[in-house]
Amino acid sequence: MRADLALVGFGHVGRRFATLLEERRDWLSLDYDLDCRIVGIATARHGCVVAGHGLDAIAAAQRENGDLQVNGAVPAHDSFEVIRHLARSDGSLRVLVETTTLDIGAGQPAIDHVRAALQAGCHVVTANKGPAAFAYEELSALAADRGVSFLFEGAVMDGVPVFNLVRETLPAVDIFGFRGVINSTTNHILSAIEDGESFDTALARMQAEGIAESDPSLDVDGWDAAAKAAALANVLMRAQITPLGVDREGIGQATARLAMAAKGRGARVRLVASAARTPTGVLTSVRPVELPESDMLAGLRGMANALILQTDLLGEIAITQLGGSLTQTAYALLSDLVTVGRRHRRAPSGAAPGRSR
Ligand SMILES: NC(=O)c1ccc[n+]([C@@H]2O[C@H](COP(=O)([O-])OP(=O)(O)OC[C@H]3O[C@@H](n4cnc5c(N)ncnc54)[C@H](OP(=O)(O)O)[C@@H]3O)[C@@H](O)[C@H]2O)c1
Repeated sequence: MRADLALVGFGHVGRRFATLLEERRDWLSLDYDLDCRIVGIATARHGCVVAGHGLDAIAAAQRENGDLQVNGAVPAHDSFEVIRHLARSDGSLRVLVETTTLDIGAGQPAIDHVRAALQAGCHVVTANKGPAAFAYEELSALAADRGVSFLFEGAVMDGVPVFNLVRETLPAVDIFGFRGVINSTTNHILSAIEDGESFDTALARMQAEGIAESDPSLDVDGWDAAAKAAALANVLMRAQITPLGVDREGIGQATARLAMAAKGRGARVRLVASAARTPTGVLTSVRPVELPESDMLAGLRGMANALILQTDLLGEIAITQLGGSLTQTAYALLSDLVTVGRRHRRAPSGAAPGRSR
């Protein structure tokens, strides 16, 4: 079965996805009957291209200068033309792979990209937190209406299954809350502070090592964790919030002092994202919290993340990720692609099984 893909966003994640697709080509073909072809790529500053019979995305991914003019590629006007081209392609599956930059103000242009693809009857897989954090209700309803899939496993904890785990293995289980450490940069900084580094030195080192962004405010001010918390609450607890509605406090010099004082008491400070269902709705927060050493979140050091789901039938379920990587995020897209293929085989119209989480 041929799957035509358009890659909207071709930065770190998009490029790694393109190379991973090639590395796993035989597995996808032999085990899942998926023959993937990339029919378009869109970026912000390096132009957009489409191709009638597929283009050499590996060659494009390997170019340092971002030039997309590879064999088979024809220039396109913008990302929406690339999505329209995908919608006209004749693959059995047509899939938008959305990996544009996270916009913490409104989740754009990712939401418009996802909406355009779903409306045109294309499936969507994305690592961008924006669509699930700002518009899950609308986009999942649209996907169900058009009989296509909208999947976003890479949005939280890279490739470690969170949404897939719940959807595939926890039927009829109510998740009434969660708490977790879901931002690696801040956890790395807090661990370094416990080892005696100052906040500024720890942050500068994270930037030099390429772990924190050159503008690290998305991480240290808690926005990244707030976007993940909103996505988790919307999908797993049927909340209807955005990152702007998360009660948020990041980490700074005061947190560094708190972390050292806590260490002296045998405790640890971690940036904890949490959600709880209350009579007035789902309340979500992101803030530094002092935890006893016995708390499993206190034991997370460096890049480690963990999420504890609070459920009615199974008590607490913990999911841990000891270290993230681009490959893991790219794998999340790949596993979502396989899910799209499986669903298509079960219901060739492409119908997703209702609007389940
Ligand atoms: N990096 C990670 O480890 C990781 C982990 C989990 C989730 N994510 C999420 O995955 C997404 C991609 O991350 P990344 O690290 O690959 O980011 P990145 O390297 O900055 O790449 C972003 C890509 O999006 C393109 N883009 C931005 N605005 C666009 C627009 N309006 N139209 C078309 N293309 C546009 C950029 O174009 P140019 O190339 O021209 O700049 C670039 O190709 C983000 O939403 C991020 O939050 C990343």
